[in-house]
Amino acid sequence: MHEFDVETAGPTDTTAIRDVVTAAFERDDEAILVDALRESPAYRPDLSFVARHDGDVIGHVMFTEVALSDRETAELVLAPLSVSPEHQRSGVGSRLVRVGLDAARDAGYELVFLHGDPDYYGRFGFTSAVDAGFENPFDMPDEAFQVYALSEDSLADVGGALTYPAPFRE
Ligand SMILES: CC(C)(COP(=O)(O)OP(=O)(O)OC[C@H]1O[C@@H](n2cnc3c(N)ncnc32)[C@H](O)[C@@H]1OP(=O)(O)O)[C@@H](O)C(=O)NCCC(=O)NCCS
Repeated sequence: MHEFDVETAGPTDTTAIRDVVTAAFERDDEAILVDALRESPAYRPDLSFVARHDGDVIGHVMFTEVALSDRETAELVLAPLSVSPEHQRSGVGSRLVRVGLDAARDAGYELVFLHGDPDYYGRFGFTSAVDAGFENPFDMPDEAFQVYALSEDSLADVGGALTYPAPFRE
């Protein structure tokens, strides 16, 4: 078990986050996405988190705002989630997700969307967004498109199209 803390990311973490995201995905596409999201209007600085081990950043997750066609207020997208390879499978990713979901609920959001492996995200309570009535905005398998309800009735009377932050669509 690796000792680590999860906290809100700060301005001095930018380079370390870039390194962790690049190492986790073994390419720089997602790190470029993180940098672009940070500069976009969808960015929520209070919903970007790092995991630290001995002071070093070993994991990162970011939640940004997504627009819904049938709702005036924005909801959230969880992406990307990254844990440096040498610290994977030690619960770091799970803690980042759970801390982020709690903070999203405290901030007043209702829904969190993502595209990812249902085997991984199902453990947190993510379920099919298509089954919940949302249109999959990307050319990715419908099974990957998932939603998490931050309160009991968050998924009642909602559905339709999503407009992801621009950096996801470029
Ligand atoms: C996916 C990722 C964030 C998980 O973080 P982590 O800290 O290793 O995960 P945790 O330790 O919290 O959870 C580990 C569990 O998740 C499972 N798991 C890890 N990666 C998985 C994946 N891609 N798909 C399904 N299950 C996965 C492990 O089997 C393990 O399950 P177990 O505890 O039953 O053995 C990390 O592996 C990573 O950064 N991967 C590369 C980037 C990536 O794919 N990000 C997700 C994009 S959607």
